[in-house]
Amino acid sequence: MENFLLRDGRIKKVIIIGLGQLGLPIAKYVKEKGFDTYGYDIEQKAIERAEKVASIKRADSFSDFDIYIICVSTHMPDDIFTPQIDGLLYIVEEISRKARNGAIVSIESTIPRGTSKKVFEILNHRLHVVHVPHRWYALEEIEHGVNQLRVIGGVHDCCLRAALQFYTGDGNNSNNNNANENRNLGIPLHTVSDIEIAEITKIAENAHRYLQIAFAEDLYLYCKTNNLSFPELREAINTKWNVNILEPRDGIGGHCLPKDTRMFLQSSKSIKSKILTAALEVDQDYRRHRQSRVELEVLCKDISK
Ligand SMILES: NC(=O)c1ccc[n+]([C@@H]2O[C@H](COP(=O)([O-])OP(=O)(O)OC[C@H]3O[C@@H](n4cnc5c(N)ncnc54)[C@H](O)[C@@H]3O)[C@@H](O)[C@H]2O)c1
Repeated sequence: MENFLLRDGRIKKVIIIGLGQLGLPIAKYVKEKGFDTYGYDIEQKAIERAEKVASIKRADSFSDFDIYIICVSTHMPDDIFTPQIDGLLYIVEEISRKARNGAIVSIESTIPRGTSKKVFEILNHRLHVVHVPHRWYALEEIEHGVNQLRVIGGVHDCCLRAALQFYTGDGNNSNNNNANENRNLGIPLHTVSDIEIAEITKIAENAHRYLQIAFAEDLYLYCKTNNLSFPELREAINTKWNVNILEPRDGIGGHCLPKDTRMFLQSSKSIKSKILTAALEVDQDYRRHRQSRVELEVLCKDISK
């Protein structure tokens, strides 16, 4: 695939597939940037919400888009801690049947290593494929929202160039001389030469965060066993300029850190990360400890009644 093959060299019509916690703000942002923005989700409620709160158009079919942004969930339906990409691959099969040559598929969901190349195969090498994972953080949407610095990789160089035109305005598309029509998302991107680096970047970032919290849990359990005050120890350690011990709180949760850490652990062909395997065990020990404390508190309350 040499050229972008976009309609008269421009990206106009965009579809966001998966309108959940992350997909909805993406759709909103894309629309605000002036693109003709459509949405799709398996949940009717998600589509209705996108129509209502952001005037996103409902897509009746996957044909005729310039760019397909995939933001569906990548965990098992009944277990948010376990990675699963069946839904994402199903969507790609649907796109493959309907999309025209040279359109772009941008995977913004978090995915296991090797997924982007698999997607390119399913699309019979007809569409450009890039991976642009997110660092979106619900509690700080202004500072850490859709348009913060992200990493991008393409299956081929032409995929990357086609997508850069959409995300940043770069991409050397000489067909487009009209500055007014050169819309882009204005998102700063760090380009990598191998799409697997983009895939691993996201899951290793979250594995790193997982480790930091697991260490806090470990230290907390150490304090409990040795009769020390964890808050006091933490406060004392954190007076050092290059240390920031986190709070263990309720254990490592949410639908990103545990799932992405497992994706990272499964991503190596041979050697598995020993330190992450241990961190998963620490989190289980910590949760067991929390649970037994809760049970003890309930028992004490019942006795004192
Ligand atoms: N929410 C975050 O803070 C965050 C941050 C970074 C990355 N991510 C990643 O983004 C992706 C989406 O996360 P989210 O938080 O928006 O999840 P979510 O569960 O809030 O939303 C996912 C949406 O995808 C839809 N969906 C699932 N399977 C589908 C299918 N086959 N076809 C169409 N729609 C489908 C669901 O109905 C849902 O509306 C995940 O891979 C997640 O790891 C999320």
